[in-house]
Amino acid sequence: MASGPSLRDDISDVIVTEEQLDAVLDRLAASITADLAGCDPVLVGVLTGAFMFMADLVRRLDFPLQIEFMRARSYGEDTRAGELTIVMDLSCEIAGRHVLLVDDILDSGHTLAALARILQQRGAASVRTCCLLDKPARRAVAFEADYVGVRIPDRFVVGYGLDYAHHHRHLPFVGVLRPELYRDQHQESSQRHEVRSSDA
Ligand code: IMP
Ligand code: MG
Repeated sequence: MASGPSLRDDISDVIVTEEQLDAVLDRLAASITADLAGCDPVLVGVLTGAFMFMADLVRRLDFPLQIEFMRARSYGEDTRAGELTIVMDLSCEIAGRHVLLVDDILDSGHTLAALARILQQRGAASVRTCCLLDKPARRAVAFEADYVGVRIPDRFVVGYGLDYAHHHRHLPFVGVLRPELYRDQHQESSQRHEVRSSDA
């Protein structure tokens, strides 16, 4: 196959390397195992961003669990927790079950805070949350995840599940796109809003 331009050339800074991801996943899996092994939890991945993280995380969990996914849509900065719309729901009853919500990144906090509350309202026995990345500088609601992979600075990142305008999700590491690849870098914050609105 002819070698052409590489997607990796679109990245200016790698924020979390593949080696670092391996170590982070091992640490998260150990903590989750210590807390949840033996209670047959339901792991709920938040699509689309959590697909890769979820797949790598569950391969490190050597105990019975159920895998589910949800897809939600939020409406950006002004969204109050709870105004999120579920566009793909669970296929199981959650009442009485121990739940671990798994997302790619904790940013404003609206998505995980709202989903956790919804699952609690459905009668889950417990709801814990896990995010691969955490951008504490962007938090708009008082919410912290129980399991945090890596705290990162306030930069818009792609790869390992995270996208910009639906692309770059399948890069095997987390990085920052070269600024010239944003359609209009001066509108970056409104595009972030757009990305978030289309797929939490
Ligand atoms: P929150 O509700 O603001 O915490 O938003 C979380 C969602 O916003 C994540 O699940 C991502 O889909 C999206 N998001 C936030 N920051 C980034 C980023 O830096 N890159 C890609 N997606 C992001
Ligand atoms: Mg997401």
